[in-house]
Amino acid sequence: MPKKLVVGNWKLNGSLAANEVLLGGCGTLAGVEMAVCVPFPYLAQAASLLDGMALGAQTVSEFQSGAYTGEVSAEMLAEMGCRYVIVGHSERRALFGEDDAMVGRKAAAALRAELVPIVCVGESLAEREAGRVMEVIGRQLGAVWESIGKEGFSRAVIAYEPVWAIGTGRAASAGEAQEVHAGIRRWLSEREVPLAEIRILYGGSVNAGNAAALFAMPDVDGGLIGGASLVAEEFIAVCRATMTNGGC
Ligand code: 13P
Repeated sequence: MPKKLVVGNWKLNGSLAANEVLLGGCGTLAGVEMAVCVPFPYLAQAASLLDGMALGAQTVSEFQSGAYTGEVSAEMLAEMGCRYVIVGHSERRALFGEDDAMVGRKAAAALRAELVPIVCVGESLAEREAGRVMEVIGRQLGAVWESIGKEGFSRAVIAYEPVWAIGTGRAASAGEAQEVHAGIRRWLSEREVPLAEIRILYGGSVNAGNAAALFAMPDVDGGLIGGASLVAEEFIAVCRATMTNGGC
């Protein structure tokens, strides 16, 4: 089993001064892999301050180079020291028009530059209430499959982020998360993706209080953390929670 992975997604937050305080207070823990996905302008600063934590970005262009004003390529992210990049976050899907196929092309771009894509999937509240959770997630994963296939999925991280849990203070229960994570693992296993190294993260209102129960689930391999990653003590407490209740 690979180590559990906890990734902070800072979203549109930070300043040079605040980042220095936050990263200075984080440190690392043995037994858990930690990463932070920061806004593009802070990649260089974060790369210089990180000591053992991995660096990531929050999105990437599907294009490698050329006349694409405002875009940032996977190769640029790799050159800045990134290991991870989030693709298909529900905020990108809902607010910036990213569709399933584009998420697949972005995952492929990440892999081309030897970055690890963190492929986000998750249902809305209406979709959950209609009993369509695995149908929606199967559609989202299927579109990525079209672009990266078995070999690509074996190098990717998947993040289950139910839209209704993001930034709401209402995390999925450990049981709800486990059920979907097991469904995602089943989806991968049906397509013969080697499961031993695959990590499926849970994201959505994870905090120091609920992290241990979520991470104790057998198919929850870590977390993608928004708000709680912006305060060093809280982020460290979430990371530490991977090591209780049977975590690594
Ligand atoms: P919150 O932890 O703030 O709910 O955000 C989750 C998220 O969107 C991480 O990508």
